[in-house]
Amino acid sequence: MPEQQRLGFVERGTLAELAAEAGRCRRCGLREGCRGVVFGEGDPHAALVLVGEGPGAREDEVGRPFVGAAGQLLDRILAAAGFRREEVYITNVVMCRPPGNRLPEPREVAACRSWLELKLSLIRPALVVCLGALATQTLVDPQARITRLRGQVVERDGIRYFPTFHPAALLRDESKKRPVWEDFRQIRAAYDALGADV
Ligand code: URA
Repeated sequence: MPEQQRLGFVERGTLAELAAEAGRCRRCGLREGCRGVVFGEGDPHAALVLVGEGPGAREDEVGRPFVGAAGQLLDRILAAAGFRREEVYITNVVMCRPPGNRLPEPREVAACRSWLELKLSLIRPALVVCLGALATQTLVDPQARITRLRGQVVERDGIRYFPTFHPAALLRDESKKRPVWEDFRQIRAAYDALGADV
C-alpha cells in the first residue's frame, strides 16, 4: 500500500475497512494455498492486543484466529488472567495459513507486515503481547531470543510489548506454563494500571 494511502487509512479508515482490503491481498504466495485471510478479531479499540504466528488448519477453516488447540489454551490463559476474549484483540503476524503449518518465511512476514502495522495504528493499544518468537522478532527485535526476552517489557512508540511463549509451545512443554502465567500476571497488572475501564 503506498504511503499516502496508508496514512489516509490511519486517519480515516476503520478496522472493518482494512479487513475488507486485506481480504483481497495477494502480496505473497500463501493466499494461493489457504481458504482465506484470517484478519483477526476482538474489540477494535482494545487496550490489549495479542499477536501470534499465523493461522493453523482450524483457523483457516473457521476464518478466526486461535480457535484450534493452542487457541483453546490461550482462552484458558486469558480467562485465568481475568480477560474476556471480546475485550482484547487477537491477530497474527501472517494472515494466511502456511502450508503444513510451517513457519512463515521472511518474505511472507515482510509482505504481511504493513497489514499488522496498520491494524496496530488503528486499534492503538497500550499493550501488545507477542506470543512466541516470530511475533517478538517481528515487532520487537529481529534478533530476539524468546527464552531471553520473555518476562521483559519493551516500550516502543508509546506501546509496551510483552514477549511470552506461544501457547503451542506450552502444549509441547509443560515447564513453560509457570513463566507464561507470571507474564500474564504482569500483563494484567499493567492493564489494570492503565486505569481505563476498557
Ligand atoms: N492459531 C493462530 O491463530 N495463531 C497461531 O500462532 C497459532 C494458532
